[in-house]
Amino acid sequence: MEELSENEGIHSKREFNFLKYLENVVEAETILYTGKVVAVKGLEVESEGPRAVIGEMCSIKLRDGSALLAEVIGLDEKHVKLAPFGETKGIEVGCEVVASGHSLMVPVGKNLLGRIIDASGRPCDEKGELIPDTYYPAVASPPAPNDRVDINRRIVTGVRAIDSLLTVGKGQRLGIFAGSGVGKSTLLSIIARNTNADINVIGLIGERGREVLDFVNRDLGEEGMKRSVLVVATSDEPSICRLRAAQVCTAIAEYFRDQGKDVMLMMDSMTRFAHAQREIGLAAGEPPAQKGYPPSVFDMIPKLLERSGTNKNGTITAFYTVLVDGDDMNEPITDKVRGTLDGHIVLSRRLASAYHYPAIDVLQSISRLSKRVSGAQTRKAVGQLRTWMSAYQDNETMITAGIYQKGNSPSVDIAIDKHQAIEEFLKQEEYEPCPIQETLSKLSELTGIEIPEEEYVENPAAAIPTTAQIVDSAKHSAASNS
Ligand SMILES: Nc1ncnc2c1ncn2[C@@H]1O[C@H](COP(=O)(O)OP(=O)(O)O)[C@@H](O)[C@H]1O
Ligand SMILES: [Mg+2]
Repeated sequence: MEELSENEGIHSKREFNFLKYLENVVEAETILYTGKVVAVKGLEVESEGPRAVIGEMCSIKLRDGSALLAEVIGLDEKHVKLAPFGETKGIEVGCEVVASGHSLMVPVGKNLLGRIIDASGRPCDEKGELIPDTYYPAVASPPAPNDRVDINRRIVTGVRAIDSLLTVGKGQRLGIFAGSGVGKSTLLSIIARNTNADINVIGLIGERGREVLDFVNRDLGEEGMKRSVLVVATSDEPSICRLRAAQVCTAIAEYFRDQGKDVMLMMDSMTRFAHAQREIGLAAGEPPAQKGYPPSVFDMIPKLLERSGTNKNGTITAFYTVLVDGDDMNEPITDKVRGTLDGHIVLSRRLASAYHYPAIDVLQSISRLSKRVSGAQTRKAVGQLRTWMSAYQDNETMITAGIYQKGNSPSVDIAIDKHQAIEEFLKQEEYEPCPIQETLSKLSELTGIEIPEEEYVENPAAAIPTTAQIVDSAKHSAASNS
């Protein structure tokens, strides 16, 4: 016994005290790659060092003790070219530049709900510090094709014209195309307040500061804000901020999708995103290709848009607004965005000036997946409505000029009869909610086509057999009959 206790004594004397070393490790500075500012050229900062890669985030230490975040956008033998995420005011030759070792990372987590953050992921509201659950990279690849889940559930936007005639699926991506002041931002805010998505992630890219305040305080309101995350880069911020803000809000939507949520992503606007990349591309020496846009713009657009949609966990339904200059739908950005997405909603200045809001030009708009997410009777009613609308539109000049004689054509006669009721159906006050039950029952009433309640569910098309199933069952019954 004595021996043992002696041994024990020896053992405890030899016990290694990690603690003091641990303290040293914690306090030790790991290797930092640093450099020094050598020039500030307009919005671009040049430094000698640090050792960094393209896209890496660095911080520029200012004399007043603060630090400015900047991204590496160019490299040559001697210099690192940096785009700061803020004003270049206060930067001087000799300021230290410290590389972070990673690209832009976005703080994500449920705490983001109800918050407004900037392009670097920092909160810019007055609600205090943001404690994230984890970080997601701002620039990421889209889900692999195998991870894409089929779109077969309808999302409710709360906008009658969309939910009936342009039904959208959970995970579908659409563009909203319009000139300025026709109602793009207002339409987005209506959707944000009324959608049945779990969460809204809204990117306000290149708007004026006042528009942002209006959007938050007036359009979104407290209720809308509660289940929304806003990412804001106003028009007076550097182009790198406007560019990255679009990617930051996409990353936040990706985080919530990975949590199994149905996310509504709204980006206002893609045009400003394209302009930001144009400025960066041209400054980096890229040649202008189409209408002054360098090739990188057309490379970035699909890369960004493809990140939304479905994956194995959840869905990102997305609306991207595009400013159509002079109502030219063939302008290169419009064309590129339209070609990449699963549908487009066109807003018309003519309707807006006639105070027909939302100013959706239904016949010009298309939702490519609407058939997959609406029931058979609903589709029949939609077809009927579109036929009447197009018959009216084709003859509108004659009708309004009083040249059209009633009785000339039965299809035009009925189109004229129905015209007023259709207009009433498509118009909707900004603060008039419209649940899907109401939309479909009004559609049914208007067309006289019965829409059974089974079609009010989220996946009304699921019960409908596919063409292959119909052929199979026909073969089967033919075989059993013979
Ligand atoms: N649904 C609506 N109901 C009533 N007025 C609207 C509606 N949508 C737009 N407006 C009017 O049009 C103006 C511009 O709308 P806005 O959404 O800011 O356009 P955009 O984002 O396309 O520039 C609004 O200030 C408002 O007066
Ligand atoms: Mg707007």
